[in-house]
Amino acid sequence: MTECSFHRGRRLRRTPILREMICETSLSAADLIMPYFVVDTPDASFRQPIASMPGQFQLSLKELEKEISRAVALGLRAVLLFGIPASKDPAGSGAYARDGIVQRATRMIKQRWPELLVITDLCLCEYTSHGHCGLIADGDKTGHVLNDATLDLLARTAVSQAEAGADIIAPSDMMDGRVLALRTALDKAGYEETPIMSYAVKYASAYYGPFRDAAESPPHFGDRRTYQMDPGNALEALREMEADITEGADMFIIKPAGPYQDIIRLVRDRFDVPLAAYQVSGEYSLICAAAQNGWIDRKAVIMESLTGIKRAGARMIISYFSVEALREGWIH
Ligand code: PBG
Ligand code: ZN
Repeated sequence: MTECSFHRGRRLRRTPILREMICETSLSAADLIMPYFVVDTPDASFRQPIASMPGQFQLSLKELEKEISRAVALGLRAVLLFGIPASKDPAGSGAYARDGIVQRATRMIKQRWPELLVITDLCLCEYTSHGHCGLIADGDKTGHVLNDATLDLLARTAVSQAEAGADIIAPSDMMDGRVLALRTALDKAGYEETPIMSYAVKYASAYYGPFRDAAESPPHFGDRRTYQMDPGNALEALREMEADITEGADMFIIKPAGPYQDIIRLVRDRFDVPLAAYQVSGEYSLICAAAQNGWIDRKAVIMESLTGIKRAGARMIISYFSVEALREGWIH
């Protein structure tokens, strides 16, 4: 018998196959959700690069169709849609218009690719002239969003998205009681089978900066800290989860993802529910910028960032790298 005095971890790191065999975390196409920005424009060939998100575009309906056609061929299974309306108003009416841009995009996609999962982001900030995620009282310049009055508009938006054929409704507004309001309205309209994927844990994060360029949705006054969560809080995430579970959400999003991996783990350990994490625009842009400068290895850092999010406990990942990872064969 040999005396065993120390742990030889390197024995299992000797060959690629051995390393893969004991790897605890794997990524697959089924994990990935790709966000798209679709613009209501008469210019069918509109394809505008988003400066702060290299490789991402604002797309006309037609260009979105082309983009999704390529992505589906690569194995993409789920998309998350954001709309940019032709005009904005204080009540964000473009969000719940029957022929709103997200509603039209949803109809187009479901008609051509019935199996592709369409998740519609539900919020008013892309549609309101003031850029807040809900209603603001007339003359208010502090940016205080009226909670309960906003719920009615969110409910209308959810029903119109479901009507258009959305497979999953994803509210990202952070109003209190919205999951209950949405569930009630969807059920009443006959959409009791449409799941709600709630952005249950959404921090007031500076990592959303590039997204607000992409969606043309920065608040014109005030900020989102009276409805999104304080980055210093972890226990509050548990209360938000509890509330959304009680109100009837089916799936849950934590956002941002990378800088909040502790929150993903905490929530995963406490709640046995389908969990997604959103690798947001700023996380995307940081990696792109450093890679463009030659400071990091693009592929390696993308894969490590996605692996970290999955390892932390997210079952699904919303990432702007989804299509690239499939195209390059990094994920199958
Ligand atoms: C809208 C919304 C935002 C994001 C997703 N939905 C922006 C915000 O709350 O300001 C951010 C996504 C990203 O940064 O990629 N409420
Ligand atoms: Zn919003």
